[in-house]
Amino acid sequence: MDAAAAARRLADGEVVAFPTETVYGLGADVLQEGAVARIFALKGRPADHPVIVHVADIRGLAEWSSSVPGAAMALAEAFWPGPLTLIVPKSPRLPSIVTGGQASVGIRCPSHPVARELLREFARIGSGAIAAPSANRFGHVSPTRAEHVRDEFGASVPVLEGGACEVGLESTIVDLSRGHPVLLRPGGISRAQVAEVLGEDPRERDANAPRASGTLAAHYAPATALTLMTAERLAAELDTLASVAVLAFGEPPANAKAFSWIAATQDPAAYAHDLYANLRKLDAAGAKRILVEAPPRTGEWEAVNDRLQRAAAGSLADDDET
Ligand code: TXA
Ligand code: MG
Repeated sequence: MDAAAAARRLADGEVVAFPTETVYGLGADVLQEGAVARIFALKGRPADHPVIVHVADIRGLAEWSSSVPGAAMALAEAFWPGPLTLIVPKSPRLPSIVTGGQASVGIRCPSHPVARELLREFARIGSGAIAAPSANRFGHVSPTRAEHVRDEFGASVPVLEGGACEVGLESTIVDLSRGHPVLLRPGGISRAQVAEVLGEDPRERDANAPRASGTLAAHYAPATALTLMTAERLAAELDTLASVAVLAFGEPPANAKAFSWIAATQDPAAYAHDLYANLRKLDAAGAKRILVEAPPRTGEWEAVNDRLQRAAAGSLADDDET
């Protein structure tokens, strides 16, 4: 299936998985409510969780929102196409199923060349806007390769191929619908980059923020229990535990009894690129536990630390979010 064929399927009301620079998305035409409903059914996602609207270029911001805050325009001009989602007041044209009943909408213009081709084709023959969450079942690790999507949904979802996703973590989300900018989810565009364009630090998410799946503590979780720990504790655990799968900065000690060991890179972008594929590998190793050496707590590691903390929280025994 090429981009033109995928666009035709979208226009016909079908669901299609497609690559972006962050993760693979599970897409449907924003104007076809039945197709959007099928996304929710396939994912097992609650109806009140809004879905991001993907557009071909910056004009999509005005097209699918009722008014564009200046700060949203500035961020779009600086970082689109790219891994940044902007929350703005929604256009009345947009069916409320897309926004989970909320008055705002998340809009993003992806930079992956295959996604851009798909969006251009779909603008030619359809609405040009694709509603798409990450192409994984609710609560699972997001897919960063076409085969991950097939692992999640089998043959029931056609996949437009686009190789391994360059960023590897979901987009940064900034909410501009409430008067002051709020960072809802860290991602490929850093907090510092957002602050530089806005001229102020975005605020933290607070209790009034809408419930959002990517912002639940228990999310992005492998099925195997995952624990984040220091290098010292990891060394101590390795002395006593045998059935573990490990992601750490460095090679395994000679006497390690670990089942499976992935030596992680010290480069935060490369670490992010491989993180979800690595979590899937560790999960498949058949170990009782996954142990991850915690990365540094600096700004360049913020998005990685965010996802690792959610993976650890999400794999606790009494997880009610999956
Ligand atoms: O990188 C990405 O953003 C990927 C690719 C496919 O674009 N998409 C993605 O979608 O991660 P999803 O649905 O897995 O996560 C989107 C997040 C969710 O936490 C959702 O609740 C939030 O965006 N979101 C969407 N619209 C929103 C809105 N109007 N207000 C607040 N949060 C919103
Ligand atoms: Mg997701």
